[in-house]
Amino acid sequence: MRETLVESARPDGVKAELRDTDTHIHYLRSLVRPPAGSRAVPQDVFWLVDGTTYLGEIRIRRRASGSHPSIKSHLYYEIRPSRRGRGLGIEMLRRGLLKARALGHRRLLASAQESNQPSRRMLEQLGARLIARRTIPHTGGTFRLYEIRLAARRTA
Ligand SMILES: CC(C)(COP(=O)(O)OP(=O)(O)OC[C@H]1O[C@@H](n2cnc3c(N)ncnc32)[C@H](O)[C@@H]1OP(=O)(O)O)[C@@H](O)C(=O)NCCC(=O)NCCS
Repeated sequence: MRETLVESARPDGVKAELRDTDTHIHYLRSLVRPPAGSRAVPQDVFWLVDGTTYLGEIRIRRRASGSHPSIKSHLYYEIRPSRRGRGLGIEMLRRGLLKARALGHRRLLASAQESNQPSRRMLEQLGARLIARRTIPHTGGTFRLYEIRLAARRTA
């Protein structure tokens, strides 16, 4: 867990989430139930673990959202850096889609940066359909937007 967050640490203090166990539990609860007045979308968080070892997590937002209005997603996922490239990402997404279906989702939006080959492959392998490409003005970052239908057995 620390390995994952250290990798993604930003100057906005994301590492503060790991200061201690209580802080981290409080943070996780705030993802599921954002504080009153917050604009954050509630999300369900599932960890992939091997016994007591954290391998990664997938977050399923109750509605699609994103930091840029034209790039909205229901999903966020990550595998801890030392365990990447071994098929865990795709397995976690497969299980995450089952969870999403059980939570009542029937159609998910997902996004992947054009340059994020592993994320794109995961989505495409599990039946996500490319619906658009978007380039964010000024930054030039290009994203692929996908739709995942969960009613069909193949993706659920
Ligand atoms: C995206 C991420 C979850 C993938 O997890 P992973 O466990 O490494 O992925 P997998 O091993 O299951 O591989 C998934 C696919 O990507 C391919 N892949 C894996 N690593 C790759 C790499 N470095 N370059 C190109 N393709 C790669 C795999 O071959 C596989 O495709 P295939 O089935 O066609 O062979 C992981 O890279 C990660 O946590 N990245 C940082 C967070 C992130 O970008 N999240 C996505 C945004 S929501």
